[in-house]
Amino acid sequence: MKKLKVAVIGAGSISDEHLKSYQNHPDVEIYAVCDLNEERAKRKGAQYGASKIYVSYQELLADKEIDAVSVCTWNLSHAEISIAALDAGKHVLVEKPLCKTVEQALLMQDAVKRSGKLLQVGFVRRYDANVQMLRSFSEKGDFGEIYYAKASSIRRLGNPGGWFADVERSGGGPLIDIGVHMIDLCWYMMGRPKVKSVSGNTYRKLGNRAHIQNLSYYKAADWDPNLNTVEDLANALIRFENGASLFVDVSFSLHIKEDEGSVKLYGDKGGYVIDPSISITTENHNTIVSIVPQVDHQGFHGDSAFQNEINHFVSCVQTGRQPLSPVEDGVEMMKILCGIYESAAMGKEVYL
Ligand SMILES: NC(=O)c1ccc[n+]([C@@H]2O[C@H](COP(=O)([O-])OP(=O)(O)OC[C@H]3O[C@@H](n4cnc5c(N)ncnc54)[C@H](O)[C@@H]3O)[C@@H](O)[C@H]2O)c1
Repeated sequence: MKKLKVAVIGAGSISDEHLKSYQNHPDVEIYAVCDLNEERAKRKGAQYGASKIYVSYQELLADKEIDAVSVCTWNLSHAEISIAALDAGKHVLVEKPLCKTVEQALLMQDAVKRSGKLLQVGFVRRYDANVQMLRSFSEKGDFGEIYYAKASSIRRLGNPGGWFADVERSGGGPLIDIGVHMIDLCWYMMGRPKVKSVSGNTYRKLGNRAHIQNLSYYKAADWDPNLNTVEDLANALIRFENGASLFVDVSFSLHIKEDEGSVKLYGDKGGYVIDPSISITTENHNTIVSIVPQVDHQGFHGDSAFQNEINHFVSCVQTGRQPLSPVEDGVEMMKILCGIYESAAMGKEVYL
């Protein structure tokens, strides 16, 4: 079989997960790497054996050899690059969030329909083995009707700065960066119910905390102590038309003792925890029981989830199958995220 020629656009931190996983795939050739920063593109290209290096994504997309692209740029350009790629006849794997606004999301959906090409959204949490296992238990009815979910991802000191802290390039702070993973994961596990309304709050109280000393944390490449236009903390209550609800809170910065992460879903026959480590609680013979599935990784395992995501993308391209995380789900997520920002700005619940 002819190898699939792929290109990665945006050669920053997350591109390594894409490039490593493509490199491991026997049916893929890493053909090109593109970044606005030529040095970075050249370094990544050399590391993963790409034959072509581009600084302009337009020039890359004009290259007829390329079958598919991963879009790993700032959120600002996800829509523009993905639409151009689809129109140039390439299949697209775009990092989360799908884009910055609902309008952009709908244009991306139109481009998928128009081009007949595939777009997979990089909702990597869906591709984790534990998530797929629990999803199959759920589909077999083990948890009954899931009516409540609760997700939290709280960083004590974790505003990465750079483009992440620039609302123009990111679209927002922890809500659009981390909240998108939490909300999508719960929504997917709940069976993608139709959203009725959202009520959210965002806070900008602590800033980027550039003054903090004696404690290291991840900083984006173009970190600037003076640039921060995003929220520190967001919370939201999401109501679904089937009566189910989801509560979520996420932060870049909060006066909490240590980082916390939890994802929990509750049904009328049983409940389960995904983060920080999987467990199930149910009833058996009039007794409450807790079950700990014996699996390779009790918590989220990034490397294998990214490998599964890339394997799935390649397989969908080869077979024409619809991806597990299609553009429609990216659109729905943008409606929820933008609805939460709108609700927070207006100080009231927003009906979608
Ligand atoms: N799935 C995950 O868990 C996960 C984790 C981290 C980041 N991400 C997503 O991946 C994307 C990139 O994040 P990152 O952490 O790698 O950021 P990064 O800053 O490390 O890298 C982004 C790169 O994109 C390049 N770039 C920006 N605009 C470009 C353009 N128009 N053309 C070519 N190159 C361009 C930048 O020069 C930079 O090198 C974001 O959308 C982010 O939300 C996803």
